[in-house]
Amino acid sequence: MDMFVIEGGVPLSGTVAVSGAKNSALPLMAAALATEGKTVLRGVPRLVDVETLSLLLQTLGVQVRRDDHDALTLEVVDERPHVADYELVRRMRAGFCVLGPLLARRGRACVSIPGGCNIGNRPIELHLKGLRALGADISIERGYVIARAERLRGAHIDLRGPFGSTVTGTCNVMVAAALADGSTMIESAACEPEVVDLGNFLNAMGARITGLGTPILRIDGVRCLAAAQHTVIPDRIEAATIMIAAAITRSRVRLTGVRPAQMTNVLDKLRQIGVAIDVKTDAIDVCGNEPFRPVDCVALPYPGLPTDLQAQLTALLATVPGVSVVTDKIFPDRFMHAPELVRMGARIRREGNSAVIDGVDRLSGACVMACDLRASAALVLAGLAASGTTVVRRIYHLDRGYERLEAKLAQLGAKIIRTSDEPAHFPESLRLAEERAQPIRTFDAREPLSGPKWFQQLRSDTLKSRHDC
Ligand code: EPU
Repeated sequence: MDMFVIEGGVPLSGTVAVSGAKNSALPLMAAALATEGKTVLRGVPRLVDVETLSLLLQTLGVQVRRDDHDALTLEVVDERPHVADYELVRRMRAGFCVLGPLLARRGRACVSIPGGCNIGNRPIELHLKGLRALGADISIERGYVIARAERLRGAHIDLRGPFGSTVTGTCNVMVAAALADGSTMIESAACEPEVVDLGNFLNAMGARITGLGTPILRIDGVRCLAAAQHTVIPDRIEAATIMIAAAITRSRVRLTGVRPAQMTNVLDKLRQIGVAIDVKTDAIDVCGNEPFRPVDCVALPYPGLPTDLQAQLTALLATVPGVSVVTDKIFPDRFMHAPELVRMGARIRREGNSAVIDGVDRLSGACVMACDLRASAALVLAGLAASGTTVVRRIYHLDRGYERLEAKLAQLGAKIIRTSDEPAHFPESLRLAEERAQPIRTFDAREPLSGPKWFQQLRSDTLKSRHDC
């Protein structure tokens, strides 16, 4: 297992390119199950979730290959398998996106229910409601959804749930309806750009979907979908995370390869906080040198502020003096980052689906534990801003959804390294309390030091001060 060691308080500067969107790439890859021939996807980020889904697709008869130009080719070579195993689906919720394509193309699917998740309750009943409306016979047995349908039939479906629509549910039902007999109308469809990206890809394969990006989709079913090529949209969550990195370190950074039009609400919110933002056609300049103001944020379905940025905004607002309130109306329990931020000196109180933040002048470095993907990003951001050293453990959560985040931040000048999560790699400065209480294992001065110069310096300074006392 790896961890990050971050030396905080270092201003960032420079340009960074944003990767393809995880939440687009995964449903797009799953949709390859519904086609004949070779699907070619460009801009698929190199992420653990992409590897996991590739493995799952291989078990379902799809050959997955990355070529020298970084394009991902997916080709269905065996249409018999229809079981998506628990071992793979439990690791990543997007694995459930194979349900619609499998059912539509192979007439049967047996897909593990993804199970619990650190960000709260993640039901699937809307996915099943939509597929049942299309005529699928669905039962749940031994933790699996078992779905069958000779032919799916177009229907009128409402995907409204208690917290709005469902993103992956809309993806599952849209792919299935694309291959159904007759017309389907989906009301309360998710409007997220990642759903639009999948719809555009399906249309490129011969589907007939209109209304993308609105809550009402009309889908005229076709007999088959032909393979197509497609480029994944940029990751608006990664882009915004890096913008917040610039803001939290009060720095100036340029992002390239972005689609600002898909981030309007985020840009408005950051401007409201006081971050200076200059939008170009496919680039954004961010300058965090302004005096910042506390604000209230509410995470809502698109075009509202994304829940996937709630934790990162909380980290930023924890460094803005004054009271801010961050509310999550999609995942009301997605606040596991709050107690870890408190360990870094943040003043955050949880009230129902809100975090009440009383901003401080400076966070202080600490050893913190990542508990989900976006919470990990929030802790990294807090570490960049904090005084002293921060260790973020369990970063495997982060590797699921950010492509080389530490390399991108290091490229901007951040002092961040990845190292294996072993006691010997813990900076001594974070072990002082422990040290006073009991004799601790020390670094062996004869060990060759690894890592960049500043990290070596940190270790050798610590050794020196130990010898001094
Ligand atoms: N919901 C229901 N019933 C359902 C499905 C969802 O009530 O059958 C509720 C959920 O409990 C939640 C809300 O509807 O309150 C939205 O859930 P949704 O189904 O839209 O979430 P998802 O499709 O499982 C995707 C992203 C998440 C992102 C959410 C919300 C992917 C692979 N995942 O999840 O991304 O937070 O939409 O925008 O696209 C992340 O990237 O860190 C992440 C968690």
